[in-house]
Amino acid sequence: MSTTAINPKGARTYAAGAGPFAWNQAYLGSSVGQKILVAITGASLVGFLFFHMLGNLKMFSGRESINAYAHFLKHDLGAIIWIARGGLLALFVTHLFLAIRLKLRAKAARPIGYAMHRTAQANPASTSMIWTGIVILTFAVFHLAHYTFSLIHPVELADGTMGTYFDLRDAKGQHDVYAMVIAGFSTWWISAIYLVCQVLLFVHLSHGIPSSLRTLGLTGRRFEPAAKALGYAVAGVILLGNFAIVLAVWSEFLKP
Ligand code: HEM
Repeated sequence: MSTTAINPKGARTYAAGAGPFAWNQAYLGSSVGQKILVAITGASLVGFLFFHMLGNLKMFSGRESINAYAHFLKHDLGAIIWIARGGLLALFVTHLFLAIRLKLRAKAARPIGYAMHRTAQANPASTSMIWTGIVILTFAVFHLAHYTFSLIHPVELADGTMGTYFDLRDAKGQHDVYAMVIAGFSTWWISAIYLVCQVLLFVHLSHGIPSSLRTLGLTGRRFEPAAKALGYAVAGVILLGNFAIVLAVWSEFLKP
């Protein structure tokens, strides 16, 4: 077992065999270190969700615009896209793994539970963070299967045959992401899944954002209302942007 020793006259030292990463291990093994990692990975994921939503709004600028954007991301960025994908996956996994671990630790430290659940700032969003998080993860897997791997929903092609989303091509022969999104959200049950999950994402983010800011040290009377307002504002913008795309297709404002 690695142990650490404090040298009162100098810097913290580590017992022989503890290795050069003992500080990291001790820090990341602590609940505080893990909470900070959950906050940082959460904030990075919010950044991804915001820019993903902004990019998807190109649906409103027309077929050429969104198809060119998707083509740029997938084909013009070279290795960068794979580094970004790897980073995104690492963020998702770290965030979920540590959040669940912290929750289980807290439960184990209090096996009987409170007679009355009256935590400092408990509200339905804060008590359901793990559950909304698990639904969002399930949604992300469904979403990848749906759009990225085209495993969920066959489409009718121009020549009347059935195919996958990958068979949809525009006039330039590029992947027709515009037609793919229209095909996806023209199907009522797919739109319904997206809409319900966007609401749960809003619930998760509107609590997660102020909670992360608190963990990162922005606390106190002055910051608390501002952090809450920022949480609702960012979560609300992501919700409205994503809703707009689904509803615009559903209502046929965006046409094939
Ligand atoms: C209505 C809301 C959303 C729309 C319209 C949408 C649309 C899309 C589309 C069209 C793609 C595939 C792009 C392509 O293959 O060319 C995609 C990929 C992706 N989306 Fe979304 N998305 C939405 C919400 C979300 C949410 C809430 C998350 C996260 C929880 C998410 C995570 C991802 C990821 C991780 C990818 C794969 C990126 C890659 O291939 O590298 N999306 N999305």
